Amino acid sequence: ERRVVVLISGNGSNLQALIDARGTEEGLGGDIVAVISDKADAYGLERARQADIPDRVLSPREFPSREEYDLHLIRLVEEYEPDLIVLAGFMRILSPAFVLRFHGRLINIHPSLLPKYKGLHTHRRALEAGDNEHGLSIHFVTEELDGGPVILQATVPVELDDDESSLARRVQVKEHLLYPIVVRWFLQGRLQLLGNHPVLDGQPLPRQGVL
Ligand code: GAR
Repeated sequence: ERRVVVLISGNGSNLQALIDARGTEEGLGGDIVAVISDKADAYGLERARQADIPDRVLSPREFPSREEYDLHLIRLVEEYEPDLIVLAGFMRILSPAFVLRFHGRLINIHPSLLPKYKGLHTHRRALEAGDNEHGLSIHFVTEELDGGPVILQATVPVELDDDESSLARRVQVKEHLLYPIVVRWFLQGRLQLLGNHPVLDGQPLPRQGVL
C-alpha cells in the first residue's frame, strides 16, 4: 500500500476530504500514515485522531531557524517512509532543503487560479480586483513559492454579494472534490512530474476536460 503524509496548520477540511475518500468505492489509492502540524491547536489533529491516524506536532518555536526546523521536519516526515507528501493548509514556507528532498512527491493546494494571487489573502485580493472568476490550483511544489507546475485547477464564479468567507466556502467545496482525485492519481502511479511538467497517463497537464 502506498503511503501518504499530510501536513496541516489549521482546520484540516482538506485532510478530512482525503480521510473520507478512503471509505469510498474508488478509495484514496493508499494509506494516510501520519498527519503533521506546525500548530499544536490545529483542529485537523483532532480529525486525524478520530480517524485513528497518528498525529504529530512540530512547533517552530523549538527551533532557532527555518533551516533547523525544516531539517527536523524532513526527519519526522521520513520516519513514515511516504510515497507522497500532501500540503493541506500547511501555512509555512518550506526551505529549499525540504522541497528538494521531496521533489516530485510533494503537492500543495492553493486557493487561487495560479499564477494569480500567490501568497496569502487570495479571496480578499480576488474580490478587491473585481474578478468575476476565482478558484483553486493543485500543484507540485518547487522552490518558487506557489510557483510549481500546476496539475489541476477549478474555477468558481464570484457573486456580487460575496465577502471573503462566502467566496472561501465556495472555493473549498471544490477543493474537497479535487484534492482526493489528484492524490488518487498519484498513488495509482498515473501522475508524475517529468522535468518540470506534470504528466497524467502519459499526457501533459493541465488540460481542459480532464475530469
Ligand atoms: C485551504 O483553502 C487551502 O487552499 C489553503 O488553506 C486552506 C486550508 O483549509 N491553503 C493555503 O492558503 C496555502 N497557502 P483546511 O485546513 O480546512 O484544509
